Amino acid sequence: MEPLIDVKGLCKTYIVNKYSNNVLRNIDFTLDEGEFVTIMGPSGSGKSTMLYTISGMDRATAGEISFMGKTYTGLNEKEMAKLRLVSMGFIFQQMYMMRKLCILDNILLPGFHAGLEDRKKVREEAEMLMRRLGIMEIADNEINEVSGGQLQRACLCRALINHPKVIFADEPTGALNSKAAGEVINELVNVNREGTAIMMVTHNARVAAASDKVLYLIDGHIEGTMELGKLTDESDLTQRERQLNKWLMEQGW
Ligand SMILES: Nc1ncnc2c1ncn2[C@@H]1O[C@H](COP(=O)(O)OP(=O)(O)O)[C@@H](O)[C@H]1O
Ligand SMILES: [Mg+2]
Repeated sequence: MEPLIDVKGLCKTYIVNKYSNNVLRNIDFTLDEGEFVTIMGPSGSGKSTMLYTISGMDRATAGEISFMGKTYTGLNEKEMAKLRLVSMGFIFQQMYMMRKLCILDNILLPGFHAGLEDRKKVREEAEMLMRRLGIMEIADNEINEVSGGQLQRACLCRALINHPKVIFADEPTGALNSKAAGEVINELVNVNREGTAIMMVTHNARVAAASDKVLYLIDGHIEGTMELGKLTDESDLTQRERQLNKWLMEQGW
């Protein structure tokens, strides 16, 4: 089966004051349909850059990236933006909600923008998602009136509104306490079980232990891969976390 995302020889170089910084060095990577992969590694190793180039938010310097069998090469910014809007969802540590809109309207916005369904349908979908994630009561709130955990669950609703093939998550629990982080990761696991692939960056081994596979990035290169397998109802998360921590130590974590 063809992977959802296929990356070959990905390089990204930033040039700052005539000095070039080779942030990603020849990365090969695949994400299968429905797979849940986590990227870990030291600060500055290029994790966010890897996420942003693979999701097409930023352009690669070299290499080829394909999504659903179609290469990014030749897509202009408008086509790239459309692909992200319709087929990808994003959540970030910083959350990036619009301050002037209530929570529900923030969730509706990419749905209205994509225009895949009529507005009534999009609104019903948003309300269904909010109910599912246990945040229906904050629909009319402003974004500064809710907790960080509620806000991140709202961001996940926004990411899901167009039924993406994949969610990109850059340190989604980085700003949350451990209880709220646990709730967000549970929701990501549920979303993944329904078939949405996930590519996540985290510093938190407990959070990473919920994913199928962990890649370890050092200086812009994948130095190791840890296969954990799908988390099931029978899995022992603490045992997975222990196994992952042991491996991370070996990687120089
Ligand atoms: N827009 C940019 N312009 C120049 N350098 C950047 C830019 N974004 C990231 N970098 C550099 O790329 C390196 C990797 O950054 P990043 O991908 O954010 O790492 P991580 O997410 O692993 O902490 C860092 O050295 C950072 O300074
Ligand atoms: Mg980062």
